Amino acid sequence: MQTTTTSAAPPDSERSIQARDLTRIYRVGSVSVTGIEGVNLSVPAGQMVVLKGESGSGKSTLLSLLAGLDRLTHGALTVAGRDLSAPSDTELTTFRRHAVGMVFQAFNLLPTLTVLENACLPALLAGANPDTAHTKASDLLSWLGLNDRLDHRPSQLSGGEMQRTAIARALINDPGIILADEPTGNLDSHNARKVIALLADLNREFDRTVVVATHSDLVDPFATMVLALQDGRVAS
Ligand SMILES: Nc1ncnc2c1ncn2[C@@H]1O[C@H](COP(=O)(O)OP(=O)(O)OP(=O)(O)O)[C@@H](O)[C@H]1O
Ligand SMILES: [Mg+2]
Repeated sequence: MQTTTTSAAPPDSERSIQARDLTRIYRVGSVSVTGIEGVNLSVPAGQMVVLKGESGSGKSTLLSLLAGLDRLTHGALTVAGRDLSAPSDTELTTFRRHAVGMVFQAFNLLPTLTVLENACLPALLAGANPDTAHTKASDLLSWLGLNDRLDHRPSQLSGGEMQRTAIARALINDPGIILADEPTGNLDSHNARKVIALLADLNREFDRTVVVATHSDLVDPFATMVLALQDGRVAS
């Protein structure tokens, strides 16, 4: 990645995470389901965290809270220097646009937009100048090996190419923290390795904090912290 593609790492506070007694209880009708409960977490800037645990242990629940996609039921949470304990809708929207980049197992690209348009979208939503956003997205997509696919739609891409497009989209607003939920879950092993190597590059070369929830052991060699969840709690 060229230095123009991703600016210098944001300050430490914008790359760190603190959670105290973090709890998310889902209410489904009269039933309560524990997503996570009593999670304490302190992630300093520049870590590569691997989030492990059996299916249903709370990995996606935790990542959704860290990403500002969901609200906690109880506890305290600060991500990238922003207090997410009881945010307003506006605060959450701004937070999602600027503070974190999210990568999902199912890529979540918009099918009617091209690769370039998908990558640009968060910048345009944040009010960036379209020319600047296009240049930045082109640089990122070129770093990700997609410079000859800019005008293609997601349906014309392989899974690995779709995930690299999603990584460009996650990086376009220069977040200090990248959150990835099973980013290799729909990829063959070659593309899975490539995606993990890119996330590791973002961590090692560009000092971004990266949190990856995964069942795979591909991240292990790059991880600087391991957080294991069991039944919604940090496993001892
Ligand atoms: N929207 C929801 N409504 C009700 N219960 C939910 C909801 N989302 C998650 N849960 C429950 O919360 C618990 C944790 O789920 P979560 O999706 O966080 O697990 P996970 O570790 O990501 O699992 P997987 O490895 O299968 O992705 C599970 O019992 C799940 O059924
Ligand atoms: Mg999950």
